[in-house]
Amino acid sequence: MPESPAIIRPQTTVVLAMSADGKIADETRSPARFSSSADLMHLQKQVALADGVLFGAGTLRAHGTTMSVSNPQLRQFRELQGVPTQPIQIVCSRSGEIDPQLRFFRQRVPRWLLTTTAGAKRWQQQESVDCRFERILVVDTSTGEIDWHNAFQQLTQLGIERLAILGGGDLVASLLQADLIDELWLTVCPLLIGGAAAPTPVEGEGFSWQQARRLELLGVETKEQEVFLHYRLQRS
Ligand SMILES: NC(=O)c1ccc[n+]([C@@H]2O[C@H](COP(=O)([O-])OP(=O)(O)OC[C@H]3O[C@@H](n4cnc5c(N)ncnc54)[C@H](OP(=O)(O)O)[C@@H]3O)[C@@H](O)[C@H]2O)c1
Repeated sequence: MPESPAIIRPQTTVVLAMSADGKIADETRSPARFSSSADLMHLQKQVALADGVLFGAGTLRAHGTTMSVSNPQLRQFRELQGVPTQPIQIVCSRSGEIDPQLRFFRQRVPRWLLTTTAGAKRWQQQESVDCRFERILVVDTSTGEIDWHNAFQQLTQLGIERLAILGGGDLVASLLQADLIDELWLTVCPLLIGGAAAPTPVEGEGFSWQQARRLELLGVETKEQEVFLHYRLQRS
């Protein structure tokens, strides 16, 4: 679906690590911890460049925490830019079913929830102050899906100009479908995972090859055994 030129929205960059056979996790969707410390630093750099970080509730459930900016140089970089030390961590969930006991809620980061009317109800009933989201954005369609164009417009109005998208594949598929992705960083890691049910960077229904989204390669970097691919989405 071509994007409306009038939409004001954040610049978006997807950042994912995958196996050499294109899997971002194993079939059990266990936490993906197969990339190197260099890749984790690369991820942290991308987070440090962002005003907001968006990820699916499945990714949060798998990991229990989010990537915050902990590196002193990166924290200093943000201070010099005159932006808060930590970008806003935005969880997206239709259901709002997120365990308030997750360590995420004890991380020293600002937290927002992007959800539906039904998902928001769970959190509006939460009494405990220390596990709350600072902001709950309810932006749904009449069918109970997230209205991504509207959501992204609201994020811009709330000061988010650069958004890092950290997966998983379901979220990336929805955003690709809505034509809301500008760039991708894919780290190819030296392992093979296999398995038809193991997720890839883009899940969802997929595209026919005629409709497949085309990429422009902006750069390739190799560090030890990993390859860092930087792409821009081609716009028609
Ligand atoms: N290798 C990597 O770089 C990388 C990065 C991220 C994740 N992963 C791996 O991926 C796995 C988790 O991924 P996942 O398949 O569970 O995907 P996910 O996209 O993180 O989470 C799926 C959940 O997020 C919410 N969501 C996603 N798209 C949505 C949309 N369009 N509208 C509303 N809500 C939406 C829904 O939450 P509700 O169910 O609450 O409605 C959905 O069930 C884990 O194994 C994780 O380690 C790997």
